[in-house]
Amino acid sequence: MADPQEVLTQRVQSALGAALGAEYAATDPVIRPSQFADYQANAALALAKRLGRKPRDVAADVVARLEVDDVCREVGISGPGFINLTLRDDWIADRAQDVLADPRLGTPEPPRQNIPIDYSAPNVAKEMHVGHLRTTVVGDALARTLEFLGHNVIRQNHIGDWGTPFGMLIEHLLEVGADSPEADLVKTDPNAFYQAAREKFDASEDFAGRARRRVVALQAGDPDTLRHWRELVDLSKVYFNRVYATLDVTLTDADLAGESTYNDALAGICDELSAKGIAEVSEGALCVFLDGFTGREGKPVPLIIRKSDGGYNYGTTDLATVRRRVEELHADRIVYVVGAPQAMHFRMVWETARRAGWLPEDVETVHVQIGNVLGEDGKILRTRSGRSIRLMALLDEAVERATKVVAENRPDLDDATRAAIAREVGIGAVKYADLSVAHDTEYVFDFDRMLALNGNTGPYLQYATARIRSIFRKGGLAPEDATGPIAVTEPAERALALTLLGFGPTVAKVGETLEPHRLCAYLFDLAQAFTSFYEQCPVLKADDDAVRASRLALTAATLNVLVRGLGVLGVRAPEQM
Ligand code: ARG
Repeated sequence: MADPQEVLTQRVQSALGAALGAEYAATDPVIRPSQFADYQANAALALAKRLGRKPRDVAADVVARLEVDDVCREVGISGPGFINLTLRDDWIADRAQDVLADPRLGTPEPPRQNIPIDYSAPNVAKEMHVGHLRTTVVGDALARTLEFLGHNVIRQNHIGDWGTPFGMLIEHLLEVGADSPEADLVKTDPNAFYQAAREKFDASEDFAGRARRRVVALQAGDPDTLRHWRELVDLSKVYFNRVYATLDVTLTDADLAGESTYNDALAGICDELSAKGIAEVSEGALCVFLDGFTGREGKPVPLIIRKSDGGYNYGTTDLATVRRRVEELHADRIVYVVGAPQAMHFRMVWETARRAGWLPEDVETVHVQIGNVLGEDGKILRTRSGRSIRLMALLDEAVERATKVVAENRPDLDDATRAAIAREVGIGAVKYADLSVAHDTEYVFDFDRMLALNGNTGPYLQYATARIRSIFRKGGLAPEDATGPIAVTEPAERALALTLLGFGPTVAKVGETLEPHRLCAYLFDLAQAFTSFYEQCPVLKADDDAVRASRLALTAATLNVLVRGLGVLGVRAPEQM
């Protein structure tokens, strides 16, 4: 096992049991990295109160029973009763060697779960906005991470492909013709198509009437209407897939499970909730009232599952998502990567589902709340004219700006190579910016900052991998051939090796907390530890063959971890930069 925190936890627990009695062997000794030693355990402090003894005495008893000679070079007690633990250099080196040899790079394998993950979820014939960009990027990173951990990940793209706007959209499509340039806008500039339909709807009574009748026909399953509806969805798919390809995310058509997927389930949901006495009619609408959900002036806020006109709601569909994910996809854990403003919606849906018996206690539901992306003015990102930003234009601009950076740094490369690098750097920068901040905080979209070659940015980490590759190129050998053995003597070697041990535990933590920014922070730390190492320890010019072999192996392990780490985040690492 390569995780020092876990190894030390087990050893201290055994000592707690031996010193204080078996019932204490399950106490969490709280092992934390420390500036006074590699790690510090503060178990004695918490236990002393319970035992009515002096913390330092408790610590001394524990240390007396502690068997860590193979792991620690030094054990001491400091302050009020902290246990200081300093690892042996050879233990660190051996564990770093294990990481290098392990295809999973020290990543533990948690019990395999079925995890449907709902992310991206743009709306048909509408522009994807920066909020969709962020759920797409964060959701995809989580899907990749959970898959790497060994879970069975089931991607669910809950696109908005149903509802009243489709009446007007279909009528507009019929007027312009499915093969017209106007219809093509759905693939390239969907808001322009949507606006045109909207304008007709507002301007012409006749058109509005047809649009309304079209909604009725759609809901009644009229085959002709369904055919046109499908044409619209297919045009939108072209647009979504272009964005996904540009963003390099893993979503495919097979992952589409839009709102319309659940049409046949909605009546049954309403009937069952009524029969179980969970839903009641209020002002003509079928509602679920839940304790603790109140709006202004303490008025109860219902989850409306059937409107007074008989139409179903967003919440009804989401009740159906829960049922399908539990009953058909056999979910152990259901993840929704959706904007933070929908938090209350999901709490109400889940509580209703629990009461209805559709969501068993042992199935966990999680809302990974996505915070807003802001413009420089601190408001939701928009164009200067106040229109919402076209996502493709934003991504094109990222690549264009990256092209300039690459052109400055690598005038020696040919155009095609530079263009390929610029794509990976530009897109990587945008994605990494979304990932490196806590997913529920707002952040300001700033091209200059995300493309900077220093700081916790995508390009900085990409550059770190490219620089390591160039070391190997210069040395005339492949990273795979650098097999060690790893030994550490210099402080910078030791620090780098110790940091390498953190990859697996960090990935495991991201799988639990669903917080990709933890992995970003780790990779940034690792790249910095490598920089200090490389400044202080000659690699190719090491004066001893064994030292050179060890340093090359540390360098290779760093490369593997950085590339794999960026990979599970969905960020590419160009071979050169
Ligand atoms: N289409 C919705 C939107 O654009 C997001 C759907 C999220 N997923 C869900 N199961 N409700 O806001």
